[in-house]
Amino acid sequence: MYLTDEEQRMLDGEEGYAARKSMEILAALGDIFGAERLIKVGSVQVAGVSYHNLGDAGLEFLNELARDGKVKVLTTLNPAGMDLENWRELGISEEFAAKQNLVIDAFTRMGILISCTCTPYLIGNLPRYGEHVAWSESSAVTFANSVIGAKTNREGGPSALAAAFVGKTPCYGLHLDENRVPDMHVQVNAKLAKLSDWGALGYAIGKKAENKIAYITGIKEAEVDELKSFCASVVTYGSKPLFYMQGITPASETVQAPKDTVTIEESDIKNAYDNINDQVSDIDFVCVGCPHCSIKEIAEIAELVKGKKVNANTELWVATSRTAKQLADKRGYTQIIEASGGKFACDTCMAVAPLKGRFKALATTSAKGCFYSRQNSMKTKMGSLKECIEAAVTGKWNS
Ligand code: F3S
Repeated sequence: MYLTDEEQRMLDGEEGYAARKSMEILAALGDIFGAERLIKVGSVQVAGVSYHNLGDAGLEFLNELARDGKVKVLTTLNPAGMDLENWRELGISEEFAAKQNLVIDAFTRMGILISCTCTPYLIGNLPRYGEHVAWSESSAVTFANSVIGAKTNREGGPSALAAAFVGKTPCYGLHLDENRVPDMHVQVNAKLAKLSDWGALGYAIGKKAENKIAYITGIKEAEVDELKSFCASVVTYGSKPLFYMQGITPASETVQAPKDTVTIEESDIKNAYDNINDQVSDIDFVCVGCPHCSIKEIAEIAELVKGKKVNANTELWVATSRTAKQLADKRGYTQIIEASGGKFACDTCMAVAPLKGRFKALATTSAKGCFYSRQNSMKTKMGSLKECIEAAVTGKWNS
């Protein structure tokens, strides 16, 4: 890969340890994937923030980089293993919190904005159409590529950090227009009535697309919350972190629908629910906010729980960014949700918090949340926000 003089100096260690390590990572990646050069990125989103996933080896790696590493572009974080303020309330141990705080401390010293969320585009890390970025979290990467029309590969934690220290990433994969051409046409004939139907649609398309780039037709309207739910699901269950939706995503008019066509019928949506939902009726954990709740979703939750009480045997978590929570505080939604017994889980999520063994059965709006919670040995139920709040109040899944 061609390196400029400045990049070569960084690789030679003239700008310190973190810059050298970063250039080593980027040069190796560039060589593996045949990149000709590095390109500037407008922002970075770093995954690998939860101590649950990092462990002591990961923490040590971060501390080494934090000795002299300073990010060169706007950089935000993926969810951590706990709510950074309210972790006790969520049942996190002192030991875990101490380690997680050391991780956050290392990121702080690097100059990273401590906003731990998989919806960075809702809190100020918003690329423009066509901008190159280096993001990590799969739903955010899919949203950036498809809904915003920015360009990013799905970075690992170390390669995203390296991009942040250098301000550049190797130009390969989804940074190149020739790799952004759709190779499957998906005609959607099914009705999408509620938020979780978008997760089911993502499941159905992900399974059929099998790592292809889908050009989706047949959808007339889509809200941002629906698209973020779809992004999380479609990439979890199969396809590339890029799709086109005719009339909805900005680049859909710039490419042709491929000839190779599959359809999505009502039966595919039903099949998705059948596969995602387990046989279980007692629910001890309800978690909404995967991807992290927008302020609009928090408002809907507040409306649904108003005047009700969460069941004594069930926990209700509203997973969101701290920024959205601050808006919820101002609007009075926090007070309504907490008065019902619901808890905010800011900065974290059900996939990266240390939850294994704590809960038996999850209810959620999210197909992706179900996928990861099964890995935490939970039974899963996916449904609308209304169904989830009903499950939180009754402790039962009724539909
Ligand atoms: Fe976000 Fe965690 Fe879901 S990172 S997309 S809330 S699994």
